[in-house]
Amino acid sequence: LCDGCYTVRRRGTVFVLCKKNKKHKQRQGNAYPRDKLTNVTPSILSKITRQLYLQQYHPISILRNRIESNFDKFHYFNSFNPIVTTIQNFDELGFPTNHPGRSTTDSYYINKSIMLRTHTSAHQRQALQTGAEKFLISADVYRRDEIDTCHYPVFHQMEGVQIFSINKAIEEIAYDMQISTSQQQQQHRHINTDDNTVISITNPIQSCHPIEIANAIISHLKYSLNELVKMLFIDEKNLQVRWVDAYFPFTSPSWEMEIFYQGKWLEVCGCGVIIQDILNNAGQPDKIGWAFGLGLERIAMVLFNIPDIRLFWSKDPRFINQFTSNEIIKFKPFSKYPSCIKDLSFWMNNDKEHEFHITNFCEIVRDIAEDLVEDVKLVDDFMHPKTKKRSLCFRINYRSMDRTCTNEEINGIQDKIRKSVAEKLDVTLR
Ligand code: FA5
Ligand code: MG
Repeated sequence: LCDGCYTVRRRGTVFVLCKKNKKHKQRQGNAYPRDKLTNVTPSILSKITRQLYLQQYHPISILRNRIESNFDKFHYFNSFNPIVTTIQNFDELGFPTNHPGRSTTDSYYINKSIMLRTHTSAHQRQALQTGAEKFLISADVYRRDEIDTCHYPVFHQMEGVQIFSINKAIEEIAYDMQISTSQQQQQHRHINTDDNTVISITNPIQSCHPIEIANAIISHLKYSLNELVKMLFIDEKNLQVRWVDAYFPFTSPSWEMEIFYQGKWLEVCGCGVIIQDILNNAGQPDKIGWAFGLGLERIAMVLFNIPDIRLFWSKDPRFINQFTSNEIIKFKPFSKYPSCIKDLSFWMNNDKEHEFHITNFCEIVRDIAEDLVEDVKLVDDFMHPKTKKRSLCFRINYRSMDRTCTNEEINGIQDKIRKSVAEKLDVTLR
């Protein structure tokens, strides 16, 4: 706040105190002890306060509003804390202890028991415990990933959940879909035959669920998502939807919904029938229901015609001022600035080879170059025939979205990356 301000830690909480101005005194938040798993970086933590999904006139927020308006009478949870326990993010949802999502190469850990949520499903139990029977949860989620124009370590998801009393589900669903019970039975027979996945052994209806009721839930889930994409992709005359068998530890059966849009299959969401134990543990044992998790950037990129995922984080008025109509409109690109390509190669130290992961490399690049990096590709990977040492070469493509970078600036960044890579990854630069 001012040059008299300093921070102190008291009983796990961080406070700002000030030698000059008493009004600057404030509670800053929790302090978490670091441990071996800690892998969050300052540049990742700095994203937490942005809350793009709540920022008026931001495309992600416009899209969130549009989807919320499609789910009438739902409860909207928009302020859950991104810092969650590993129990919330994984255990409560039935992730096995060896699930790859738990690895430090995929997720951001504050320490071994506290992490940044990797999906909105982390809040399912919390939301269900409020007693809400239909709700949406929107949030920023965090994943360690590779770098390119459609991956960013922070993105946004929207969780949808609807639960029904087991003994009233069939009538309520029929009513909700505004067709008679008999028509509805025909409809889910139709979905069933179209979708031989429903009865497959690898993607089964849960044994605790009566088949007719599970089928009603499934048809309501698919109906709800169909209605949503019809509304969102209103300009597509022949909207094609397909349901691809999927696996999530917290739903069964499970699918990924894809739509055919502008010549490509686009993955819109994961979804399925909620694993009954999740409802039982949330104090809702007499209910049955569905859940989905939408990726908001993927949808926003096609609806708003946004070519690079980094643009969502831009503070450039030429970007943000385009959306003040609060409508889904096509983005008008401003001129692209020149890119600058640099290679970085190194020998790996033999015994550390198995520890190497591309996300560790990308993390260093992201942390130093921040949004100046457009993508990172592995362009060479070979083994020296004699020494049996492995050499990797990464090609880093730098490009600012709002200015032309000087060569010196990029060289400076590349140098810092080289030093950090040598130090943190224990490799020998070439
Ligand atoms: C999940 O995160 C599940 N929690 C979804 C779910 C919820 C399934 C409820 C069943 C019931 P997945 O990892 O596939 O699943 O991500 C869901 C969606 O988020 C994807 O369909 C995609 O649209 C989006 N998504 C995933 N990874 C990324 C990424 N790196 N960048 C942008 N969007 C992503
Ligand atoms: Mg997926």
